[in-house]
Amino acid sequence: MNTTGEITLESPGDDVIEMDRMYFPNPWESSQWLALNPGLNRLFTWRFQGELRGFALFGVAPDDNVAHLFKIVVSPQYRGSSTGSIFWPLLTAHLVTKGVNSVFLEVGVDNSRAIRFYEKLGFKALRRVRGFYSDGGDAQTMTLTLKVEVL
Ligand SMILES: CC(C)(COP(=O)(O)OP(=O)(O)OC[C@H]1O[C@@H](n2cnc3c(N)ncnc32)[C@H](O)[C@@H]1OP(=O)(O)O)[C@@H](O)C(=O)NCCC(=O)NCCS
Repeated sequence: MNTTGEITLESPGDDVIEMDRMYFPNPWESSQWLALNPGLNRLFTWRFQGELRGFALFGVAPDDNVAHLFKIVVSPQYRGSSTGSIFWPLLTAHLVTKGVNSVFLEVGVDNSRAIRFYEKLGFKALRRVRGFYSDGGDAQTMTLTLKVEVL
């Protein structure tokens, strides 16, 4: 599996919105993407020769050291070879430079692949939130403390 590519901070483009619509379990409406505040959100894309291979969207409030992971998606043909795990440390390295020391997320309780992925990264389960999603589905909340290198 070729895991080459570049991680870049971007504004949401059509291909990101399309990848969300196709592959994210709870995709956003275009209006939600348009309402994103660039001061509060960070969208990282993973591209190779312009081709979008994945993305991750975090909410980071000013003066807060907790990042909220809203979305992470890897294109299906690049999944399953630890691609997500290679992508992840590049994201957290950026967040740490912004003063973030933990990540919080919600994941559908039936999304076993994503839960396994998060557990492998070191996330710990917090609680089950009943009826979290618009279709009535439950969410699992999880948190990860980031390792901050002390020089
Ligand atoms: C969640 C996601 C980003 C993980 O990326 P990935 O590249 O698949 O991650 P990895 O290759 O590191 O695999 C993670 C784990 O998934 C599991 N897995 C692998 N193939 C699987 C399959 N076909 N079915 C179910 N689980 C599988 C394995 O447990 C694997 O861990 P292992 O390598 O120790 O066995 C990716 O699967 C994805 O984009 N999913 C759709 C969007 C989504 O659900 N995002 C999260 C919503 S909160």
